[in-house]
Amino acid sequence: MKKLIPIIVLLLALLLAPAAFARPLEDGGDPCLHPDPTVEPTVEPTCTEAGWGVYTCELCGETWEGEIAPLGHDFGAWTKLNDDEHQRTCSRCPVSEKESHAWDEGKETLAPTCLADGEKTYTCDVCEGTKTEAVPALGHDFGAWTKLDDNEHQRTCSRCETVEKESHAWDGGKETLAPACVTDGEMTFTCPVCNGTKTEPVAPLGHIERVEGAAAPACTTPGSTGKTMCARCGETLKAAETIPALGHDEKTVPGVPATCTATGTSDAVTCLRCGKTLVASEPTPALGHDFTGYLVTKAPTWREEGRETNSCTRCDFSHSRRLPKRTHLAYSACPRGDADLDGTVTAADARYILRLAVDYDDGFDADQVKKADVTESDGVTAADARAALLISVGIDPFTPTLLPGYKFKGYTTKNYILAEKDGVTYVVSNYGYTLIANKTYSLPASYAPGDLTPECRAAFDRLVNGASASGVGLYVVSGYRSYWLQQDLYNRYCAADGKAAADTYSARPGHSEHQTGLAMDVNSLSASFAYTREGIWLANHAHEYGFVIRYGATKQAQTGYVYEPWHIRYLGIDLAKAVYASGLCLEEFFGITSAYS
Ligand code: DAL
Ligand code: ZN
Repeated sequence: MKKLIPIIVLLLALLLAPAAFARPLEDGGDPCLHPDPTVEPTVEPTCTEAGWGVYTCELCGETWEGEIAPLGHDFGAWTKLNDDEHQRTCSRCPVSEKESHAWDEGKETLAPTCLADGEKTYTCDVCEGTKTEAVPALGHDFGAWTKLDDNEHQRTCSRCETVEKESHAWDGGKETLAPACVTDGEMTFTCPVCNGTKTEPVAPLGHIERVEGAAAPACTTPGSTGKTMCARCGETLKAAETIPALGHDEKTVPGVPATCTATGTSDAVTCLRCGKTLVASEPTPALGHDFTGYLVTKAPTWREEGRETNSCTRCDFSHSRRLPKRTHLAYSACPRGDADLDGTVTAADARYILRLAVDYDDGFDADQVKKADVTESDGVTAADARAALLISVGIDPFTPTLLPGYKFKGYTTKNYILAEKDGVTYVVSNYGYTLIANKTYSLPASYAPGDLTPECRAAFDRLVNGASASGVGLYVVSGYRSYWLQQDLYNRYCAADGKAAADTYSARPGHSEHQTGLAMDVNSLSASFAYTREGIWLANHAHEYGFVIRYGATKQAQTGYVYEPWHIRYLGIDLAKAVYASGLCLEEFFGITSAYS
């Protein structure tokens, strides 16, 4: 349209020009309209300014001068100036004209990809110039995320098949199988991005231990560890075990010691744990004096009385008594050489014998003369004195005369004779033949009086009566025991306590005094018997009836046995009193041992 405008202007100028410049015809005919005059410019018109020229009508031949209309610009075609405008320039003058492009809708000349830009080319309808514009890259067209493995999910671009991966965004999980005490459970985790799942084991819970029925042990009642079981699944994990009773936690509460003449109280024993009194404090008898035994302070002779004194080692008390003039011994088995008949052969005897040997009659009686005849030569000689001297210093070449059936075995450390008859050992002393049964000296199994000997039984009856008169009841709990019964007992003790322990309180078969028929246990076989009225009475009076408490409290080393306040041995009244007064046990009194070989 714009192109047509100058053409239309030119045509209108040509049509109107003859009219404007037409001159009326002078001859009165129709005026010529000069439809197509020619012009000869005298001043050339320009694009914008009118010129001057001579017109000639070819029809009528008239000429005239007139303006020549401006030519107007003679623009050429539009050309692209830049992406915004195109321009055109007049072919006659330097005038140019610009206007915006009239871009069409454009055409994709390079398709964009996921990652690379594309291109669109636009063409101007007027100048046919082009411009290109980038078409942005499309970006990937990913589909949904799908689980790749437990670590990642992925998605793929539908266009270029690019694969993208990323870690799962696992949620906190959900327990899909509950764990038990010893079996795994299962936890399922879901990724909210890809909806994928994974499972992980849940460790077993382990048992919840609970102890049922536990009980602490007490002194005399056992306790229990209780049963250990699982509070969740009820399984028994450990069976209950018995905890042994603790035994008493003994504490000795010291008593008040008795003195020689005043009673005391015994130690009590209580349990620190349960408070029970295990051994009650009992009155303890006055100790009685601890006599040295009568010691000769002036030896009697066969003409003069002597004197002997018994002193207490604990207190100042002492007692003296007269010793009768010496007489011969009442028995005939006294060893020869004991001319002064004091029970032992000493240097003094050797001196006496020497006097006899030289006819210096020192008032010896017939028995003494017989004892002085050591060599049994029917006369007292210097050789007898020498022999007595030898005996007194421990050498005895002579065998004393013993009752029929007794064999001389030697002397005790106190110079008493040891004799044996039918396999039984006796100590021969001025108290007679004393049967010995202890750890050193045994009895053959065949030695079986069958019961307490009649003499022992009669003495015990008197003891029972004496005790009864003082309001004390005594009775036998174990009297005579055969070799075989003793064997039975001893074996049982060994099985219960072991041999070493049994040997401290039970005699081996053949070694028990119970086999002699001369010993018995009374009332109670308990150490506490010593503190009872019966035990105290027995300790203070048994000797008056011919018995001794055979295994004294402080004599274990000598007797071989622990204290047995209930075991009494019949020795005859004289010997029992002498042993009691000496404060010695029988072994010490005679100078013998008690030990298993
Ligand atoms: N209980 C004493 C020692 C015995 O068994 O003969
Ligand atoms: Zn006994």
